[in-house]
Amino acid sequence: MTLRLRPFTEEDEAAARAADEQSAAERQRFLFHLEGTSTWSEVLERFSARRLGHDLPEGIVRSAMLAAVAGEQLVGRVSIRFELTPPLKRGPGHIGYHVIEEFRGLGYATEMLRQALIIARSEGVDHVLVTCDVDNVASARVIEKCGGELADTVESSLNGLPIHRYWIV
Ligand SMILES: CC(C)(COP(=O)(O)OP(=O)(O)OC[C@H]1O[C@@H](n2cnc3c(N)ncnc32)[C@H](O)[C@@H]1OP(=O)(O)O)[C@@H](O)C(=O)NCCC(=O)NCCS
Repeated sequence: MTLRLRPFTEEDEAAARAADEQSAAERQRFLFHLEGTSTWSEVLERFSARRLGHDLPEGIVRSAMLAAVAGEQLVGRVSIRFELTPPLKRGPGHIGYHVIEEFRGLGYATEMLRQALIIARSEGVDHVLVTCDVDNVASARVIEKCGGELADTVESSLNGLPIHRYWIV
């Protein structure tokens, strides 16, 4: 499978915003952390600043927001946080991923997590925390296929619902 993770570009706006709207009813949005941005250029600047660790608001750690593309097609996104805070430890962990609905069931999330792990490790994160809602069977399978070991089940800092926490070393 040819799947690449790369920064979002100007050309991604329509597909990314459409994916975000489609995700509004789901447990996890395609795009996030966009407060205070309106144009796509501002969104790209925000992603770039977060990647570089510039102007981080209180409690927000350095992170990468990457587009997952198959050929020229945007199929998903990956978010990688390069350190953990207490809320991240009981919530989203180091790596999150989202596959656009029409591209699910094709193995993309598994490949996205596999590649994201390489990026996280290259930044010095060698014990990687990945979490999922207890009823998110597909995500649990993705994590297990990438070597995740179930550590425990806790209440999410985001919404109080139970999440499984996995470590990948
Ligand atoms: C969870 C999600 C990322 C899975 O993406 P995907 O690209 O369809 O996953 P993959 O194709 O890599 O499938 C991974 C495994 O899950 C299984 N799977 C996929 N959908 C499934 C479902 N609805 N029920 C049970 N298993 C499922 C696949 O069969 C595969 O296992 P296998 O290789 O043993 O057959 C995708 O559904 C999604 O983006 N959901 C919304 C956002 C989200 O929940 N993100 C994760 C937050 S923790």
